[in-house]
Amino acid sequence: MTLASIETGTGLQRALAQSPTDVVDVVDRSGIRGRGGAGFPTGRKWRLAADSPAPDGRRYVVCNADEGEPGTFKDRVLLADLPDLVLEGMTIAGYAIGATEGVVYLRGEYCYLRDGLVERIGARRAAGLLGNGVRPGFDFEIRLQLGSGAYVCGEETALLESLEGRRGQPRSRPPYPVTSGLHGAPTVVDNVETFAWVTAILAKGADWFSAVGTDRSTGPKLLSVSGDVARPGVYEFPLGVPIADVLAAAGGTDARAVVVGGAAGQCVPASLFGRTISFEDVSTGGAFIVIGPDRVLLDVAENIMEFFADESCGQCAPCRIGTVTILDGIRRLREGRCTPEHLERLVRLAGTMQVTSLCGLGQSSPDVFLSLLEHFPQDMRVPASPGLPAQLVPAGGGE
Ligand SMILES: Cc1cc2nc3c(=O)[nH]c(=O)nc-3n(C[C@H](O)[C@H](O)[C@H](O)COP(=O)(O)O)c2cc1C
Repeated sequence: MTLASIETGTGLQRALAQSPTDVVDVVDRSGIRGRGGAGFPTGRKWRLAADSPAPDGRRYVVCNADEGEPGTFKDRVLLADLPDLVLEGMTIAGYAIGATEGVVYLRGEYCYLRDGLVERIGARRAAGLLGNGVRPGFDFEIRLQLGSGAYVCGEETALLESLEGRRGQPRSRPPYPVTSGLHGAPTVVDNVETFAWVTAILAKGADWFSAVGTDRSTGPKLLSVSGDVARPGVYEFPLGVPIADVLAAAGGTDARAVVVGGAAGQCVPASLFGRTISFEDVSTGGAFIVIGPDRVLLDVAENIMEFFADESCGQCAPCRIGTVTILDGIRRLREGRCTPEHLERLVRLAGTMQVTSLCGLGQSSPDVFLSLLEHFPQDMRVPASPGLPAQLVPAGGGE
């Protein structure tokens, strides 16, 4: 893994030797886009936060370590094995946007990582890399706060609500966190892996990073590979890697399909394994779940929709009602009780959820179901139908 070879300290040292604006420029020039799923350009996000007025001088950096997406575990590995890269990236972000405080929002189930992280934060403070006077005029503290096991709290505005001590439910946007985030102050929320790569970018340069990957998807990406493979684990590939290459590395060449992006992702069939992992093709925050030849795809659809029905926060109707209605439809399909008319209604409902749900949870919840219907109609036991509506395409892309 490239990240394992990055020497800690150099990135922060180089950042502090430049102006905050120059640091944002370096991140911008690297082309890095967020590694948490949505793929927003990190440099642009930082510039927006740096340029947003902070009436009482406060700005925040939040590390999204909620990692609730089924099939994703690369952040856990980074936090366990390379925590200083992440903490250093947060400090670089704090300097770049003019923040004085950073918070690691750690998934509740990762509580066993807490002591190690607190120890590293203390060690960095003792070394003068955190606290008062990290550089003349730059004070920066990092603290850690545990989540309580709600998937929706990985959504950045629900996360902020949770951090402020309220029930974790997404906020209406705008305003976005970059202008009004934690306690109403400009806030950068970035994924664990994003912070780690930022440290590497400052240490090795924007050109080093952008030389890897594609024009629109620069740099390497960590993938959590799981499911029906001989060698599951965390892999690093340049963005733009064909799905077939990931399968070959992990020993999953007999796969029927891959669910890329986790429960909120899409199901890619074997005939499309030439497609690439990239923001312009099949994007993922890191989940790569391999479906072997013996899997029952209705099980996959049901399992994923059960997850969403459980995890919907209930705040908006499309998600609250849509997830249980589609789950019921999948069970009807399984029992041969789903008429073509009902299926058409489900597909229309899925389209409504994609455009009217308040946050990405509801918007993406029907995507795997839709991609399974599109690519595996026989496996989904779709009854003979006068023709399925044309919009059987997941919101995240499709062919
Ligand atoms: C339901 C839901 C769950 C999410 N969970 C996570 C998560 O666990 N970790 C994460 O980094 N981003 C998660 N996100 C994306 C965040 O809202 C946000 O885009 C991300 O933290 C920004 O960081 P990045 O730009 O570095 O990717 C989630 C989004 C949604 C809609």
